[in-house]
Amino acid sequence: MATFRKIGILTSGGDAPGMNACVKAVVNKAYALGIEVVGIRGGYAGLIRGDLIPLTQQSVSNVIGTGGTFLYSSRCPEFATEEGMRVAVEICKKNQIDAMICIGGDGTFRGATDLTFHGIPSIGLPGTIDNDITATDYTIGLDTSINTTVNMIDCLRDTCESHARINVVEVMGRHCGQIALYAAIASGAVAVAIPERPFDEAAALDKIRALRKNGKRGMIVVVAEGLTNPDGSPYAETLTKRIEEYTGISTRFARFAHVVRGGNPTVRDRTTASDMASRAVELLVEGKSNVVMCELDGEIRDVDIAFALIADRMYKNKLKDGDLDRFSADELDSMRALIAKRNREIDRLYQVAADVGF
Ligand code: F6P
Repeated sequence: MATFRKIGILTSGGDAPGMNACVKAVVNKAYALGIEVVGIRGGYAGLIRGDLIPLTQQSVSNVIGTGGTFLYSSRCPEFATEEGMRVAVEICKKNQIDAMICIGGDGTFRGATDLTFHGIPSIGLPGTIDNDITATDYTIGLDTSINTTVNMIDCLRDTCESHARINVVEVMGRHCGQIALYAAIASGAVAVAIPERPFDEAAALDKIRALRKNGKRGMIVVVAEGLTNPDGSPYAETLTKRIEEYTGISTRFARFAHVVRGGNPTVRDRTTASDMASRAVELLVEGKSNVVMCELDGEIRDVDIAFALIADRMYKNKLKDGDLDRFSADELDSMRALIAKRNREIDRLYQVAADVGF
């Protein structure tokens, strides 16, 4: 059992609905255990600046249902430097911060693991709309963002139908097409294109032409932003032009971008956030750190951060020399199993989208 007087908490990287619910849960769980919580504003950059605010149960009493992060966020390359880390650790020590909870994506977890190795035990919580962390089936924010995306597509569908038009919609997801897949299925898109799978453009164009011949008026096509042309430009815009050229149907383009990162978190995101966050406090008290909270087959579990980061690199084919050296054969098998599960899920969703998309 570790004795903590004070836990620091920060949100880092792209914000996600449900981050505030995490903070609330950490504060309430910690206070119940007699531990103080201090918020760090603006992610790791705020830690380096020493931008701290005490968090009380009162100060988080109305945040569970709010979007964004009231602790603010940033991406902070300076934190990855020796000097940045030195200052951050000094700030923690000066303010008697005994442990940290860091909410965000893979960059955030790298920061949490560095802090742990520099003497500040830290735990990561997966907060990102992309659901792009291989070690967990779910990241906080995904459900809200797909619901927002689908609500917006429903609006587009109305006007597409009125004008007998097609709308190509580009949705967020830097490396991961899950937002696109869920949104496409739930909105009955006629085609979906994601970075993880080859997109048969010719088949999609033929399908659209055939559907119009059969009398279909409005149509939606969903493209994940991570899918780019060879020169790095957005494929969604190229596809918009090609659809219009090939089918002769008036085709409009919409980029939802950051809009779907905001909004009040859904019940799913509030509950998962609360569950993972309160468990993270328990683990710190039990003396555990350098882990990220994950949802695996419906259970909240803690996974070693190094394992999670390398599983991610393995999934994205970005392994560097020596990355796998420190893992046992069993651990490597577990990584492969996670990747296989993720691939099965993408295949299944892609197939459902193809089967029901009309
Ligand atoms: O947080 C993930 C994400 O929203 C990605 O989907 C997107 O590619 C990226 O962040 C956008 O980053 P930024 O907010 O820095 O423009």
